[in-house]
Amino acid sequence: MKKISVIGAGNVGTATARSLAIKELSNEIALIDIRQGVAEGNALDIQEAAPLLKFNTRVTGHSDLRAIDKSDLIIITAGHPRKPGMSRSDVLSTNIPIIYDIADNINQLAPEALILVVTNPIDSLTYLLWKKLQFNRQRIVGLGGVLDTSRMASFIALETGLSTHDISTLVLGGHGDNMLPMPRFSTVNGIPIEYLLDQKKIDKIVERTRFAGAEILEQRKFSAYETPAAAIETMVTSIIHDHKQILPCVAILDGEYGQKNIAMSVPVQLGGEGIEKIIELPLLDKEQALLEKSASAIIHDLKKVIAQQNM
Ligand code: 2OP
Repeated sequence: MKKISVIGAGNVGTATARSLAIKELSNEIALIDIRQGVAEGNALDIQEAAPLLKFNTRVTGHSDLRAIDKSDLIIITAGHPRKPGMSRSDVLSTNIPIIYDIADNINQLAPEALILVVTNPIDSLTYLLWKKLQFNRQRIVGLGGVLDTSRMASFIALETGLSTHDISTLVLGGHGDNMLPMPRFSTVNGIPIEYLLDQKKIDKIVERTRFAGAEILEQRKFSAYETPAAAIETMVTSIIHDHKQILPCVAILDGEYGQKNIAMSVPVQLGGEGIEKIIELPLLDKEQALLEKSASAIIHDLKKVIAQQNM
């Protein structure tokens, strides 16, 4: 891949640019932020580490969105982060104009690019961006499940004392308080976690996963960026190397899991073409009901936005 653009040079965008550069996942990474000098300074700071960390990727900084020109992949992290006490939905109306402005620039300057949405609330913004761009839905993917599964796997490792390498988890639904950590699809080297942990401990892990973003936010008063950047790197690697990993990602749904006109995390095959396949799992009735609860929270937000736009 020749060029990746990262829009937004806050903590998540800058950590992402750094980790993609170190992995040499593209020839160029354009880091962009409308705050004059921020992306330029952060990009230079990353670039100057190249001789020590031994990477050849060129990291450039820009304050003009037109720097996305001819990108193969665009990662959108720009927007207002939530503050302690806020839900991710609380920043939806402030972040919509930012996403729409980015959409206009994508249409003009990089109409062939794959898009990875990171700005919160990720599910709603992935859907609204797709509506605006009118792209084939496989070219737009959102961060969600990969971040949440890493958190769930970490909590299982902390609880059991077992190696993080062996733990595989699944989280479905919206990247919000109603997300669905799935113990039934979580294993340690193939062994379902039910064999290793009692129900009380599993319930605690599920609950901690659902509020893991808020836990960090409440402690230090600004949002997570290390694990989000690691999750983005995982997704970008699968796309660029066409690994076709099955990862839970925010996808535009068209009937899968009984959902339409919505985007949320489901297991997908992520490869060079973007979302190459959506994997539909047979859910138990109680799991399907929880997935619908998670979906209805997203639909509630989207309906509010659509009503405001028509006013
Ligand atoms: C998180 O869960 C920021 O939504 C992001 O940490």
